[in-house]
Amino acid sequence: TFAVAHAVFRFAVATSDAAYPSAYGLDQSCTAATVSASSADDLVPVRREVYGGGRIIDISHRYHSEMPSWESSDGLGHFLWLAKTMKNGSLANNSEMKLPTHTGTHVDAPGHVFDHYFDAGFDVDTLDLDVLNGPALLVDVPRDKNITAEVMKSLNIPKGVRRVLFRTLNTDRRLMYKKEFDTSYVGFMKDGAQWLADNTDIKLVGIDYLSVAAFADLIPAHLVFLQGRDIILVEGLKLDDVQPGIYSVHCLPLRLVGAEGSPIRCILIK
Ligand SMILES: *[C@@H]1O[C@H](CO)[C@@H](O)[C@H](O)[C@H]1NC(C)=O
Ligand SMILES: *[C@@H]1O[C@H](CO)[C@@H](O)[C@H](O)[C@H]1NC(C)=O
Ligand SMILES: *[C@@H]1O[C@H](CO)[C@@H](O)[C@H](O)[C@H]1NC(C)=O
Repeated sequence: TFAVAHAVFRFAVATSDAAYPSAYGLDQSCTAATVSASSADDLVPVRREVYGGGRIIDISHRYHSEMPSWESSDGLGHFLWLAKTMKNGSLANNSEMKLPTHTGTHVDAPGHVFDHYFDAGFDVDTLDLDVLNGPALLVDVPRDKNITAEVMKSLNIPKGVRRVLFRTLNTDRRLMYKKEFDTSYVGFMKDGAQWLADNTDIKLVGIDYLSVAAFADLIPAHLVFLQGRDIILVEGLKLDDVQPGIYSVHCLPLRLVGAEGSPIRCILIK
């Protein structure tokens, strides 16, 4: 969440004719569940939040230049550009991107806060897909506190629950839709992280802003979560308009060798 390491990804993308307008997906009115297939004639791309009549819910945020970025007041900024264009005589349109690996909806690997884990190779390619995929509980946490041991205890999450997505005040405040990074987001305090590690079976911790750890306990809470290398942190989830309850979660990081973070696509299936 806070490393300055950057990764450059190069790949081909079939683009629309607009060269990445920052308006991509910023229109909140496009969150409607009803979608009609666009005909080949009208050429209007469909952007969805849910698929299959509501059965599949996309809980990942769109990547665009105005999205919040760690400790930036100007958002992510220009990260995607057309390196080759058909307009300029290339055989195809080809885009390139450059962005911090802890951007938007993303995952943290143990090497994020432990140098010896980083050096030993505990990168995002080593994360367990069995933890990142399976039954998950979406819970609302009290809106007036960060996630302390007391809060964790009060949630009464049963033993055996391995994956929990914590929805907080961050969702109500729509922080992931605000360009300016906000240090007052809600996250785990060190004692909350410790309580979770000691008293629950939770191995996938999901949260709705750029860090699972509150800014005030940034490193200590990350250290508690990642030291055992069995807990996976998914940050920047889009949990708006989802009923609390049990779903099947599916999260897939990129296989970035040597990276301690990766953008991740996460969906819930009812
Ligand atoms: C991208 O490719 C299409 C053809 O698929 C072409 O019409 C369009 O002009 C290209 N866009 C740019 C920005 O070059
Ligand atoms: C296409 O080429 C023109 C002229 O060299 C240049 O000004 C323009 O920036 C190029 N466009 C892209 C998208 O590379
Ligand atoms: C959570 O902690 C942050 C500091 O990390 C603080 O600014 C914020 O007010 C706290 N939120 C609540 C709801 O107590």
